[in-house]
Amino acid sequence: MKPKVLVTRKIYERPLQLLQEKAEVTMHLEPRAMTSEEIMAALPGKMGMLAMGSDRVSPSILEAGKDLKVVANNAVGFNNIDVEAGTRLKIAVTNTPDVLTDTTADLSFALILGVARRLMEADRFVRAGKWTGWKPDLMIGRDVHGKTLGIIGLGRIGSAVAKRGQGFNMRIVYTDIRRLHPAVEQQHQLQFMSLRDLLQIADFVTLHVPLTPETFHLVGAEQLQLMKKSAFLINASRGPVVDEKALVEALQGGTIAGAGLDVFEAEPKVSPELLTMDNVLIVPHVGSATDETREKMVQTAVNNILAVIRGEIPPNIVNPEIYQPSKS
Ligand code: 8YV
Repeated sequence: MKPKVLVTRKIYERPLQLLQEKAEVTMHLEPRAMTSEEIMAALPGKMGMLAMGSDRVSPSILEAGKDLKVVANNAVGFNNIDVEAGTRLKIAVTNTPDVLTDTTADLSFALILGVARRLMEADRFVRAGKWTGWKPDLMIGRDVHGKTLGIIGLGRIGSAVAKRGQGFNMRIVYTDIRRLHPAVEQQHQLQFMSLRDLLQIADFVTLHVPLTPETFHLVGAEQLQLMKKSAFLINASRGPVVDEKALVEALQGGTIAGAGLDVFEAEPKVSPELLTMDNVLIVPHVGSATDETREKMVQTAVNNILAVIRGEIPPNIVNPEIYQPSKS
């Protein structure tokens, strides 16, 4: 008998075919997310769950999955999953790193360019029939090239954003819990500094940290206050890394010049004040949303489930400790 796998959303079929050869796949076909109750009801008997980053995988969901061996998240971030509970229950949790790095970095850079050059505002202006002719002060933005790009979190995506910045002749400064070797910093022209210093000098501050208890509200009123009045905040990481209420206040008060946001504290809700601001570019959590990358993400999640079916440690395990012999 084939092992059973739940796929919580209708996703790319091609990589799923490989999974279907080895497992009996139940896919939620409705054009909406499964509720927690529906997931809990569907899990008994399933050895695997291919979850979306938008699914809350709580301890009670994991406990309902009596036969669950793997939760493969269709996202690189896994703050939606209670990994600790997974580890306690010996359930492998996996993610989809690497395949979305460049795509997410592209989107982050698009936000930088979009907000600096007022692209969406300019587009709305033309569509509204307000364009009556060339004017010397029409849609004046800010240069991106030659400016200072402050990267908070120089992991895979942060590093890919740094490369794009260098292509635009930007000075790259970064902060992270781990500092690179000075020789590597020199080779790649990256300057390490404290968060405080970075906030004070960067023209664009871009966030690329995972959401953890340590990064929750990493950027709040105090940090926004340190930024230049002419600076922009870019967030394509996780909404709660920024205190959205403080951001609204900073934008209202002119503390910073604008923001490019892909993520929000209470998605899909967006603070209503942000919706009225022309200096804020808002997109609906689409960092990895390209045809090529979304297919690769499903492929990666499928590979992780297939590895567990074969009795192997999945390549993108985030809780490898479940495979260590217990100390008792
Ligand atoms: C996902 C993401 O699309 O990978 C991530 O961490 O944020 C996005 O690529 C999102 O999590 C929804 O699944």
